[in-house]
Amino acid sequence: TPEWKKLILTHHWPVTVCKMAEQKCDDIPNYWTLHGLWTDKEAQMCNISWPFDYSEIKDILADMNKWWPDVLHPNSSQLLKHEWQKHGTCAASLPSLNTQHKYFSKGLELYTRVSLSSALEKSGIKPANTYKVEEIENVILNVYGVIPKIQCIPPQQGEDAQTLGIEICFTKDFDLLNCTVE
Ligand SMILES: *[C@@H]1O[C@H](CO)[C@@H](O)[C@H](O)[C@H]1NC(C)=O
Ligand SMILES: *[C@@H]1O[C@H](CO)[C@@H](O)[C@H](O)[C@H]1NC(C)=O
Ligand SMILES: *[C@@H]1O[C@H](CO)[C@@H](O)[C@H](O)[C@H]1NC(C)=O
Repeated sequence: TPEWKKLILTHHWPVTVCKMAEQKCDDIPNYWTLHGLWTDKEAQMCNISWPFDYSEIKDILADMNKWWPDVLHPNSSQLLKHEWQKHGTCAASLPSLNTQHKYFSKGLELYTRVSLSSALEKSGIKPANTYKVEEIENVILNVYGVIPKIQCIPPQQGEDAQTLGIEICFTKDFDLLNCTVE
């Protein structure tokens, strides 16, 4: 079944997430956090009878809380539940992702492998400064050899557009892939 071809590792910039939600967040991480591991499948929610089960990822919770936090709802499983139901149940068609533990662990593993925050920092991209989307794209192409997808929110009055998310794509074998590949 050619259901999906691409895995998309989505990073969020927490400050922008809070701003977009018009929410005051405490202790906002000052690094790119993991938002999700998605497939490019158009229809999502692939198995609604497979509920999220927090107990399956107990052993990786410390890392999850640090790198894959719910910025808007601290200490809640809301984000992970949503990610599992919407995207994880689709990714689970792959044997290497067919449990919640495998799915979330793989997300953490890819996130660690990519190490986006340190790569951008090393390349001189600083969160407080303003960049063109192409500049960030080029840095990522230089570092990883692949083209990312960058999500921005439109400029607000008197401000620049802000980067909300950076997507890095992978094949089903977890090799880096250009996000532009259909
Ligand atoms: C959906 O998930 C449930 C619970 O894991 C499983 O028993 C069932 O086989 C799954 N259905 C499909 C179509 O994969
Ligand atoms: C989240 O949990 C930690 C540890 O249990 C606690 O220290 C912290 O105050 C909690 N934060 C919120 C916003 O509830
Ligand atoms: C991604 O696209 C760039 C620019 O077209 C190309 O140089 C690079 O080799 C591609 N990378 C992969 C992994 O296909």
